[in-house]
Amino acid sequence: MEDRVLDWAVYEKTAREMAAEGLVLLKNDNKALPLKQGETVSVFGRMQNHYYKSGTGSGGMVNVARVVGILDALNECKDVNVNQKLAETYAAWDKEHPVELGLGWGQEPWSQAEMPVTEELVQEAAGESDSAIVIIARTAGEDKDNTLEKGAFMLTDIETDMLRLVRENFQKMVVLLNVGGLIDMSFLDTISPDACMYVWQGGMVGGYGVADVLVGDVSPSGKLTDTIAYDIKDYPAYDNFGGEERNFYAEDIYVGYRYFETFAKDKVRYPFGYGLSYTDFKIGVKHASLDFEKGVANICVKVTNTGKRLGKEVVQVYGEMPQGRLGKPSRVLIDFAKTKELVPGLSDELKFEIPLDRMASFDDSGVTGHRNCYVLEAGDYTIHVGNSIRNTTECLFFELAEIVELQKLQEALAPYEKFDRMKPFCDENGRMLIEYEETPLVTVDMYDRREQELPEEIPVTGDKGIMLLDVREGRATMDEFIAQFDDEDLACFVRGEGMGSSLVTAGTASAFAGVSPNLIAHKIPSVCCDDGPSGMRLDSGMKAFSLPNGTLCGCSFNKELNTRLYALLGLEMTANKVEVLLGPGMNIHRHPLNGRNFEYFSEDPYLTGSIATAQLEGLKSSGVSGTIKHFCGNNQEYHRHTTDSVISQRALREIYLKGFEIAVKSGYADSVMTTYGLVNGLYTAGSYDLNTTILRNEWGFTGVVMTDWWASINRRGMEPDANDFATMIQAQNDMYMCCPDGSKNMGGDNVIEALQDGRILRAELQRIAKNVCNFAMNTNAFKRLVGEPVEVEIINRPKQADDFSIDDVEYINVDRDILIDLTEKASTADTNYVIALDVEHPGEYEVSLRGSSTLEKLAQLPCTLFFNGFPVSNFTFNGTDGKDVVIRKEVKFYGRFNVLRLYVKSNGLDLKDIKFSFEKEF
Ligand code: BGC
Repeated sequence: MEDRVLDWAVYEKTAREMAAEGLVLLKNDNKALPLKQGETVSVFGRMQNHYYKSGTGSGGMVNVARVVGILDALNECKDVNVNQKLAETYAAWDKEHPVELGLGWGQEPWSQAEMPVTEELVQEAAGESDSAIVIIARTAGEDKDNTLEKGAFMLTDIETDMLRLVRENFQKMVVLLNVGGLIDMSFLDTISPDACMYVWQGGMVGGYGVADVLVGDVSPSGKLTDTIAYDIKDYPAYDNFGGEERNFYAEDIYVGYRYFETFAKDKVRYPFGYGLSYTDFKIGVKHASLDFEKGVANICVKVTNTGKRLGKEVVQVYGEMPQGRLGKPSRVLIDFAKTKELVPGLSDELKFEIPLDRMASFDDSGVTGHRNCYVLEAGDYTIHVGNSIRNTTECLFFELAEIVELQKLQEALAPYEKFDRMKPFCDENGRMLIEYEETPLVTVDMYDRREQELPEEIPVTGDKGIMLLDVREGRATMDEFIAQFDDEDLACFVRGEGMGSSLVTAGTASAFAGVSPNLIAHKIPSVCCDDGPSGMRLDSGMKAFSLPNGTLCGCSFNKELNTRLYALLGLEMTANKVEVLLGPGMNIHRHPLNGRNFEYFSEDPYLTGSIATAQLEGLKSSGVSGTIKHFCGNNQEYHRHTTDSVISQRALREIYLKGFEIAVKSGYADSVMTTYGLVNGLYTAGSYDLNTTILRNEWGFTGVVMTDWWASINRRGMEPDANDFATMIQAQNDMYMCCPDGSKNMGGDNVIEALQDGRILRAELQRIAKNVCNFAMNTNAFKRLVGEPVEVEIINRPKQADDFSIDDVEYINVDRDILIDLTEKASTADTNYVIALDVEHPGEYEVSLRGSSTLEKLAQLPCTLFFNGFPVSNFTFNGTDGKDVVIRKEVKFYGRFNVLRLYVKSNGLDLKDIKFSFEKEF
């Protein structure tokens, strides 16, 4: 048995480090920050009591034992005093105005009502302190995009009034943005606070990271992963975002800084890569040379802390390429690194070995004479280094006399619909202007390509008693193992089971691989997948660690720290028998209003790929996997199940696929999730070009591909059909997530029918079985099954009253009625009974809870029933003179797997039993 230890104190410390390193200080006039030792600070903004640890939806549903917000952390901090009177005023108002969570999935409002402040209140606070901190907060989330409304991207009138009054009355004013994504920043002009910092959403201990920077224990070192424009209308995707049916990606590769730095420098408020520190740095190039044989540029940079405080600096390397025939952005990020923490006067040397293909362009039209190739066009190349895209010095120059073809690829995933795309055009004064050209359209048939590349069938042998362990031990080949399965068995491999499958940890997203008795009998493990990306979502109500959000992790520009943090998450997953995280999220910040930008890293694909790789490396080092999602072009939440992203091949290759390519080629990515929506007319789950031509054949991916949860599938020109697994199998999207039962065709999928009528070949199904088994054989789930369990001991985790262990949760089968005895369970305060039900007949049920109490008649003894993490019913008992009383409620079981948690609030209630009785189908 392999034993490992997860030290919770180290986990908190590392997440705190990340929360501090990822925040971005944009403005710091009059030395407003750091706060002075011993100074009193007045904190404004009602969300001081409700720090957003993350956005909502699958990426935010981590149950936590506690959240340390900014106010909590400042209160704990010895270096500053918080104006307690003001804090009490906010706390009292908060009680009267509870936060609104909305009902159901994605319904939480983007912001909460702010407390109106009066001039008197602000003046009184200013009498107590020179400095004010104002917290502006926004959530973010799935299934919903941000909007241009007040309280969403824009500030509300009450927020603006608060900012104005604070500005008028305080000498120093600091604005902290506890937000998932960018918001309108025009208040910097109208209000002019001294300091402003994006603190993002820093997970459950995020407040500590913010306080560390506020008081100067840590110097800020985060950098913007997105350009901040003055006006949202200036973002290049503005006119082509939010479509119900489709969005034409007419800006092509000119996303974020690629657009602004090329065409619209004056529209930028803060450039990509920008972020202030409390200290100063000198970045000097020690060495720069080109090794053309090896195809790399070697650069060595010396960074010296020339200021007066400790700090880290990010060195960013940008490539400038000739315009050539294709047209290029004026700069492209080609590498970056962060120094260690430097004391004043000390230096660090950063070495870069940069493959020149990071400056290559993809020719999808043939205009260079090299169609479907990555090329370096002839002309001048300059490499710049600096600490933002704007603040750089030239460090290497070279000229290519002729075009260099770096890689010849096949046309894949090209658009079908005509549209014009953006392209630079240089006027006689050397100014870059925008023109549009016709986007090259598809010329090859993906379905023909599949026909030409069909795999060979492995002759079916029937059961030979070969176990998956025999394959791992080299006693049999994978082909011999797979040969044993008949079509019904093979069909099970494509069915992920969930959500909340009883085969794996309760309340998780899905099980795959060992999902039928016969597959399990052959020692194929049931592998557990769970959301992600910023911590484990356990709908059983179990607590887990919530990490800083993706954007924050990206802004740290710190690969090593991302690896370290995700290695700890990997250990926590192992302790909870979770093998696969549904993250990192890798979509590109194409537009600031995308609701899920908080889960993703950046507008830049190289940064996205590098940070995702660092996180995947951390997970792998702890023996688990991450799932890179959503593959690809998932850049808007509005109508996410139906919107078609119409994108040129060049933009796909250089922007929307590039981050995924980096992660796959690093070798750390072995699991991929496709999207809900379409790319160029096809739902991604059914795209052979995406999942086979590009992912596997070009990039060499050997892992598994899963759909997003209950995604649609189609063949070109056909209506979507979630049961068309045949198309998914052809494409080599291995698994459908998710099915109510992996062992049976309960949803009506067409696998067997398509095998019989020849739409798919057995060989294709066998190929999927091999992908899935190869993956499963390398998981902890497999090790458990073959008696080599990996145990993780968690130490230093504070005990919580409502803690329970995954081993306490047992699945109970419900036919129509079930009575569960609760007498054995002590009815003490803060107890959780977790019951996982495997319901054969989903529908409406009556739930009756029987209990008694000898407490006085008016005693209030509430119990709450949580259903897959959400509170669904309250049962409030009173004193019953010791007699049994039954309280009845209704619950709806929409699916088969349901994790229920009964939470007993206080002592004095004797629970006897809980009964579920079927009433009717929906
Ligand atoms: C999301 C995925 C998530 C899945 C499982 C979907 O709604 O788009 O990102 O992993 O649910 O919770």
